[in-house]
Formats: sequence, C-alpha cells, structure tokens
Amino acid sequence: MPKPRFFSGIALLALLAGGCGLAGASPERDVVVPAEPTLIDFVDPATVTGLSTRTLTEGNSSTSVRYAYIKYPELADAPALNRALAEQARRQLRDFRERTRRRGVRPRPELNVDWQLAAASSQAIAVRLRTGEFLGAGWGNSTRTLWFDPREGKAVGSTELLNGPEALPRLAALVREQLEGRGAQVEQDVVTGGGDEFDSMAFNHSGDLVVEFDDCQIGPCPLGRIAVAVPAGQVAPLLSAFGRRAQEGVQGDDVSGPFPHVPAHSPAAASNKAGTVDCAKVKCVALTFEDGPGPHTGRLLDVLRKERARATFFTVGSSAAAQPELLRRMSSEGHLVGNHSWAHRDLSKQPTSRIADELGRTEAAVAAAIGQSPTLVRPPYGAVSRDLYDVARTMGFALVTWDVDSRDLEGGKGADIAARTVRETHPGAIILMHDIHRETVDAVPDILKRLRGKGYSFVTVPELYGPAHMQAGHLYRSGASRPVSSP
Ligand code: NI
Repeated sequence: MPKPRFFSGIALLALLAGGCGLAGASPERDVVVPAEPTLIDFVDPATVTGLSTRTLTEGNSSTSVRYAYIKYPELADAPALNRALAEQARRQLRDFRERTRRRGVRPRPELNVDWQLAAASSQAIAVRLRTGEFLGAGWGNSTRTLWFDPREGKAVGSTELLNGPEALPRLAALVREQLEGRGAQVEQDVVTGGGDEFDSMAFNHSGDLVVEFDDCQIGPCPLGRIAVAVPAGQVAPLLSAFGRRAQEGVQGDDVSGPFPHVPAHSPAAASNKAGTVDCAKVKCVALTFEDGPGPHTGRLLDVLRKERARATFFTVGSSAAAQPELLRRMSSEGHLVGNHSWAHRDLSKQPTSRIADELGRTEAAVAAAIGQSPTLVRPPYGAVSRDLYDVARTMGFALVTWDVDSRDLEGGKGADIAARTVRETHPGAIILMHDIHRETVDAVPDILKRLRGKGYSFVTVPELYGPAHMQAGHLYRSGASRPVSSP
C-alpha cells in the first residue's frame, strides 16, 4: 500500500484543471491522478513537538467592513521564525485594511491565510503560507514559504535555499524548461528570477525543488496554481549550504505521522452527549468558544475544570489537527467539540463542494482526535446561505450561531468583556466568545462567578434543547427561540 501523505488540495485541483492545456476536467470522465511531482508532502503538525497556533482575526458582526482570518504556527525552538511569521501576519492585515476601507461592500472583502509545514526536520523548517483574498470577483490565491535554519537560528526567505543571486537566472532557465508544454497560456518568458518570483519554494519527497507561482503571476488568473518541480540533480549545483541541508532533511525519514483514522459518522453520538442538567427546570446558559484551539485554550480548560463549568468549543480544523491533545482534553473534561470549518473562510461565498470539503475535513480531524464526529457547526463569521443549510442537512450537522455577543474581538480588558456578557445574558442564551484571545480567557472566571450567583448552570449547546434534540440542517441561535430551517 502506498504510504499515505498530506497533499495540497489546491495542487490537486490545479492539476485536474490545468495539467493539459487548461480545459477543465470533464466531470463525466474518470480522472486518474498520477504521482504529481509538484505536490509537496506536508508534515503532519501534530507530530511536531512544541508547536502551537496563533491567529489574527477581524469581523464577526453584521456591521464589520471586512472579514480576516490569519493563522500561523509557533514553534518552541524557532523564535526567529515565530517573529518573522508574526510580523508577516500583522503586515498582511494592515495592508488589507488599507485596501478595504470602503464601508458596505457586499459580499464583504475577505482575507484568509492558512499554513502548512513544507519541512520539519533537524536540518530545516519550512512554513508555507497560503493567502486567499476575496475582493468581490472571486478568490485570488498566493503562496509564500518561510524557512528556518536551526543551525544558524535564522529565519529566511525561499531564495536563501539558493547559492547567491547568480543562481536566480539559472534557476529561472530550469523553471522555463519545465514550463514547456504547459500550454500557450502559460507565459514562461516572464520567469526571470527577479522580484518575488521565487518566494515560495520547497522540496518534494524526492528532493526536487518545487517552485510555486501565485495566481495570475505567469498566466491568466483562472489557471490557478502553477508550479514546477526542478529535478533534484539539476537543482543541486544551485543550492546554498542551507539549501542542501534542507533538501537532505526531506529525503530523510518520513516525518509525517499515521494518517488519521476516521470513525464512521455517527450523528447521534456527540450532540447527545448531554449532562444531567434539565434546562426545562433550571436557568441554563451555553458558553461557546470558537476559532481555537490556540495558545490560551489550555488555561481556559483549567478555569472551566476548576469552576466545574461545561462549554462548547467550535474548533477550526487546521488548528485542531495541529493540536489534537487540546481536543482530547476538551472531550475528556466534559465539553462538546464542534466544527468551525477547516480554514475559516466565509462559507456563504463558497460553492457546495467547497463547503462540504471544509466541514468534512474538520469532521475528520476532530474524529481522529477524540474518536467522535462533531454534529454541530458554527459557520465562520456566523454567515449562512441556502447552500450551507443544504450541505449541513446532507452531512448531518445542526448549525449554531449565538444571541449574546461578548464582543471580545473589539478589544478591551477582561473586566469589560465580563461586564458586557453578564449584563446581556438571559436564560437559554448562547454566548459567543473566542478562546484565541488572552482577554477572553481572563474574563471567564468573573463571568462564571457572576452568572452562577444569578442561578445559572453552564451547559453544552445540545443540553439547551433537552429531549427535543437538535436537528441537522436547522440553525439554532438560542435555547429561548425556535430553530430556523432555511435562510
Ligand atoms: Ni470564528
């Protein structure tokens, strides 16, 4: 059996759509995908010790001008890389804000940054950042790969894999050779090695150098991702000492872990994991935390355990897959783990196939971590569409938004978040919070104490509905209101 690997979904799509001159693959025809050298074998982040995730985000209310969700890893032994990633994230958000100042644009402009580990060995670490931007006419994607040299303790760009500036035109010539035969629309002549052309490079499993271009960079935008693999032997003379170590790193032991075992979907299991509280008789409130797990989730779990309060965590799939131990803690300590999509893009802008992919991948990551499929979905930004309802119904998910917003994204200290939340809470409330924020976690002990003083019990979302149960394809905002069955 071939060794399972983590493939880039977009690479696969690009291959299907653009491998032979660009006509899209006919849906009627069976398409056999051959081993594709431009696919990078990503390292399973859960196998990397000392890895956590960081998130910058914006937008959640009906008044927000834009949506942004930027995610990147943080590695215990790579402080220079962490600094470079944090700086890159802040710069991207700042630039995006500058470019999207106009209010009331619909659908909202959106920035989304996801990441993968293109290498993680003792020789080199590589973080591939994939940026998607939606500015009204569809998504444009770009990639950038940052490298870390553990020997020097330095974070560098992809071109540092090469042996100085004179290697750039020589690599460009090899790239042009690889682009021959890709169809007339690919503009191979524009590849000269200048500018940021080679800002996303990594090695495939055979040690070939995979050079990726952004959408629209060397061909019409609809072509999507264009990448080439320069054979290991050809690229060897162009590599720097660090580049050679990085190449050796990927050709060493297979560092990716076992492919997650995905239990069969069982809609009845997780959402019925209710406690013993009867919300028909006592005052209940459901605290919901989304966007994690993140660097403050462990501390939040400590607080909830100490105060004997249960909550619902809507986890982002890619962060969940990177930190499965935090999900295991949530589950074993009595909390409910829900699905907040894989990459946190606004699903109301996505076609059904993409919605199903976002929810299905996250479902698999959660199931792999805790042995149980989630049955609740919190749509990113609370944005819903008819397609989302349909996919949720088909896949067996109930949709959950909120009716009390702690507004913890708006800044302010923990005390302000606590005061606002306590003031607006009512029996049956579903409260929106984000466990990626320090201040949110700071606010929780106070919220628990004051609400408990008012006679509230803290339950998971399904417990609000008791024996009536929650139904797939319906949207729930509050235990005090009826579910909505279509937009
Ligand atoms: Ni969210």
